[in-house]
Amino acid sequence: MDRKRLAAEKAVGYVRDGMMVGLGTGSTAYWAIRELGRRVKEGLSIRAIATSKQSEAHARRLGIPIVSFSDFESIDITIDGADEIDDRLQVIKGGGGALLREKIVASASNELIIIVDDEKPVNQLGAFPLPVEVVPFGSELTLRRLQALGCRPVLRQQEDAPFMTDNGNYTVDCHFGQIGNPVELHAEINAIVGVVDNGLFLNMASRVIIGRADGTVTERLRQA
Ligand code: A5P
Repeated sequence: MDRKRLAAEKAVGYVRDGMMVGLGTGSTAYWAIRELGRRVKEGLSIRAIATSKQSEAHARRLGIPIVSFSDFESIDITIDGADEIDDRLQVIKGGGGALLREKIVASASNELIIIVDDEKPVNQLGAFPLPVEVVPFGSELTLRRLQALGCRPVLRQQEDAPFMTDNGNYTVDCHFGQIGNPVELHAEINAIVGVVDNGLFLNMASRVIIGRADGTVTERLRQA
């Protein structure tokens, strides 16, 4: 079975009747939504909130009830993918362009389960360009300020125009090569006026599920 699907289906095993569930975005989260849809058809009763318009549309097609933030206090479990993950379960997300909604949903979740294939774990974050969501106004200046933090910033494009997030913002992919101090970098980036948020998800993942090429699945839990 596909490595991403293996991890996704394992994660959905943690979802119980009556839970409020956060739905991630991307090719791994796709499998989790699909499996949740299958279980809903079997009678599982959940409510869900999605981290992108794409995931919301997918969930609705499968009959998963979607609610809004006014309908609940907190989310029991969010299941989402990642672009890189280190040994301390610090994560880079946003390759799929949904980092802001993903972080809002993750921040309201009692448990964030990250599902990945075995190419995502790394010793040090940063080989994957760090996505940063910025407002379009003044974005040329914002890019220069990101560059001053030691990266090569690239404005993400789609069909010869800047890629637009679901929130009407741009995404800048910041090539750092390696990130020595994620906590410091997170604070420095978010202190730039014009930055909305960045793809470092620090101390948020409670469980990581890794689907491996040999068909096995391993789990890592965040140490308290
Ligand atoms: C979406 O914005 C991202 O955070 C994704 O969760 C991340 O890019 C992983 O995507 P895949 O599961 O497609 O690799």
